[in-house]
Amino acid sequence: MAIRSFVALELSDEVRKQLAELLKRLRQTNAAVKWVEPENLHLTLKFLGEVPEEQIEAIVEALRAIAQATEPFPLTVRGVGGFPDLRRPRVLWVGVEPTPPLMRLQQIVEQAMERLGFPPEERTYHPHITLGRVKAMAGLEKVRAVLSEYASVTFGSVPVKHLTLFRSDLSREGPIYTPIALLPFP
Ligand code: 2AM
Repeated sequence: MAIRSFVALELSDEVRKQLAELLKRLRQTNAAVKWVEPENLHLTLKFLGEVPEEQIEAIVEALRAIAQATEPFPLTVRGVGGFPDLRRPRVLWVGVEPTPPLMRLQQIVEQAMERLGFPPEERTYHPHITLGRVKAMAGLEKVRAVLSEYASVTFGSVPVKHLTLFRSDLSREGPIYTPIALLPFP
């Protein structure tokens, strides 16, 4: 059996609450966007895809070693944007400051997963928390209007104290993310 999985940082309840309020306003625009459920919001460090079950233990052990060598650090959640841009976005997101501890951690995770056989990400890492995935461009003006109010808003700071390996089960109602392992920092 293969398990679709990814390595991520979880958000604090406080930041999740701020983002849930923004999502509430965004949903009210009725735009053709599949919005992320607040409980599913996270910052991905590395998407692994389908992982053979017998490889999970090695991944957890590699992540445990990384976590043990990582100092707690703050994540600053600020600003909004779109991929590839806000004019014709496919993904809408809130930004995360690319601070040295975050970028270092992402690189270490990337390299460790590469050693376990996962192909390296070709695109440069742009830390973001996905809010929604755009299904059609129609009606996006209202979304842009709401987002523009948050262009320089700080949603909060998350004290990061662990890494999480999640499994992702796709269902018709949307993905279900379940932590497989929490790897604490010392
Ligand atoms: P995204 O939010 O930018 O889409 C679970 O799907 C997590 O893994 C999401 O945060 C998603 O990022 C990320 N991810 C990265 N690459 C992915 C891929 N090729 N397919 C699905 N999810 C991916």
